[in-house]
Parts: sequence; C-alpha cells; structure tokens
Amino acid sequence: MYNSKIIGLGKYLPENVVTNYDLEQIMETSDSWIQERTGIKERRHISKGSNDSTSSMGVEASKMAIKRSGLLAQDIDLILFATLSPDYYFPGSGVLVQEALNIPDCPAMDIRMQCSGFIYAVATADQFIKTGMYKNILVIGSEFHSGGLDMTTRGRDISVIFGDGAGAIIMTREENNLVGVLNSQLHSEGKHAKELSLIGPATGRWIPEIIEDNNPEDVSYYPYMNGQFVFKNAVVRFTEVINAGLKKVGWEPNQIDMLIPHQANLRIAQYVQKKFGLDDNQVFNNIQRYGNTTAASIPIALTEAWEGGKIIEGSKVVLAAFGSGFTWGSIIIQW
Ligand code: ACO
Repeated sequence: MYNSKIIGLGKYLPENVVTNYDLEQIMETSDSWIQERTGIKERRHISKGSNDSTSSMGVEASKMAIKRSGLLAQDIDLILFATLSPDYYFPGSGVLVQEALNIPDCPAMDIRMQCSGFIYAVATADQFIKTGMYKNILVIGSEFHSGGLDMTTRGRDISVIFGDGAGAIIMTREENNLVGVLNSQLHSEGKHAKELSLIGPATGRWIPEIIEDNNPEDVSYYPYMNGQFVFKNAVVRFTEVINAGLKKVGWEPNQIDMLIPHQANLRIAQYVQKKFGLDDNQVFNNIQRYGNTTAASIPIALTEAWEGGKIIEGSKVVLAAFGSGFTWGSIIIQW
C-alpha cells in the first residue's frame, strides 16, 4: 500500500469584492450583525456577465496547483470535483475541467457532499492512490453561490454567509508510509438532510410543473438553513471527528501545527480552537475575506496557509469539515 501526499496547491477568487456595507444597501442587515455572528467582513461574488463559472474557477485553481506540482496536466490520472453548485444539473463539472485542461480521457468524478465535499474528495483520492490504481489526482473544490442566493431581506440569514471561489490540489503517490495522508474519517447522518438544503429544482417536482406554477414566492429554489441547529451539531461533530483522527494517528492536540477547519462560521472555528486549546497560530481562518465557500473553503485556506509559510515540510496538518447532509469528516496529514 502507498500513501498519498499533496504536491501542488492553487486557488481562484473572483475579483468582485462584496462587503457587508454593500449588502446593507440591498437588504436589511448590518456589518455588526454579520461580523458578530459569523466573523465575515466581505466575500467574493462573480460579476454578472463575467466569464467565471464553477468549472472555470476550478480550472484556474487547477492550473496553479498543477504548475506548482511540477507535473503537466496530461500527467493527471483522475479528476475529483467537489461542489454543490455545478455548472449543469448534469453532467458534472469534472468533465468540463477535463476538457478545459485538455486531458484526453482520464476519469472525472463529481463529489456532491456540500461543505464536507473537499474532505470526501481527499479521502477518495487517498484510497485510489493507496491501492496503486491512480498515481496523480487533481482534487478541486469550487462554488458559485452568489447567482443562486436570495439577495433580499427574506434570504438574509443565508445570503450574507456564502461566497464564490475555488481551490485545488494535486495528490500523488508517496512510498514513505509516515508521510502524507495518515488518516481520514467520514460520516453522514441523513435524518437531518432538510436542515441545510436546497430542495428545488429536483425530481420531486419536474420541470413542466415548475413552469406551470411560475411562482416567484416559491423559496424552495433558494438554500434553506436551520442556522442554530446547524451550529449546535457542527461544534459537536467537528470536535468528535478531529478527536477520532488524532487518536488514530496518536497525536495530541498540542502537536497540531495547522488546523484548517471548513470556513463555515468564525464562531464555530473559534469554539473548536478553544476546545482543543490551540493558539491562534495553530488554526487558519480566512472566512473574514471570503465568507463560506463550502467545498472550496478548505482548499483555498490550505493554499493560503501554505503560501504564507504556515505549512512546511514536517508540519502536522488537520483538515475538518461539517455541513449539509449532515456530513462531516477529517483528514490528518504529515506534510
Ligand atoms: N442581518 C440582520 N439580521 C438577521 C440576519 C441578517 N443577515 N439574518 C437573520 N437575522 C435576524 C433574524 O431574523 C432574527 O430576528 P428576530 O430575532 O427578530 O426573529 C435574528 O437576526 C436572530 O436570528 P438567528 O437565526 O437566531 O441568529 P443566530 O444568532 O442563530 O445566527 C447564523 C444565525 C449566523 C446563521 C448562525 O445560526 C450560524 O452561524 N449557524 C451555522 C451556519 C453554518 O455554519 N453553516 C455552515 C454549513 S453551510 C453548508 O454546509 C452549505
């Protein structure tokens, strides 16, 4: 059995910065409400009319990751694309990236696990590399939320939180079993599926019925979140799943060099930091600048932590996420 390790990281954020003050102009909200509850100051939204899309942002992040890995796009054996906001209902965005990167016929698979999507994708890549089936895997998290949010006061509890962006990594085979991904933990609990969801459009209501209804008041087209319930579950599951991973590899929390939590909400990250007794330099957060970019949040944060020299050879790195499904998971990496 091989190990897998990360050899390239990249990110892409749309240029258009939307501050809390900008949101105050279009809905009843305030910078202080948003910052107190979530820590978010600004986020990126794709500008109407720009060429950015879920797959194109993934392509840009991938190009950076591939370049930094020293590989060529044609060396990629598998593409895993984590998103909850794919370009099309079908096919998935992975094949669009494959075409844009000009990789002839490698498999390209979308992973629909929302905020935990990147953790699920890394764990999946790790398994394919471990068995020797694939050597070089491109793992992408990309989200285009802004076009699908209710940007009125009605949707303010959700729309102030989410932002657009993409991150990508290259994972490859590692012969040394003490280096790379040491453990992955994955969980789901479908009984809470509707607590954080976007129900329509879906097969529960086919297109002719939706067109006939033509109802602008139908909020099933917008994401729904039972915020406090999500928050309560998130802090418990984050703690459990990080603990489980640490236990498997025999690390104490104080040995963590860098914890990268899914950027759901700064308050959740701060709770987890406190729970594990970690210093500020042991946890990376950038939700203040990008909001919650769901599947893209960990690879963007991981890339920025690495770019800032906060992750170096020998670093003990923990990734963890919780989100819609509910789903949650963690990845333990000896860098
Ligand atoms: N601006 C101003 N007021 C607002 C806003 C807003 N943007 N949104 C809601 N409010 C109001 C509400 O209407 C309510 O008013 P009321 O008391 O008059 O009824 C009041 O603020 C309090 O609302 P709550 O929902 O109780 O606020 P809460 O303190 O719970 O904070 C929040 C809401 C930030 C959403 C919080 O519950 C939270 O962070 N939950 C976790 C979210 C999360 O982490 N999601 C991550 C997973 S995402 C994924 O997987 C896709």
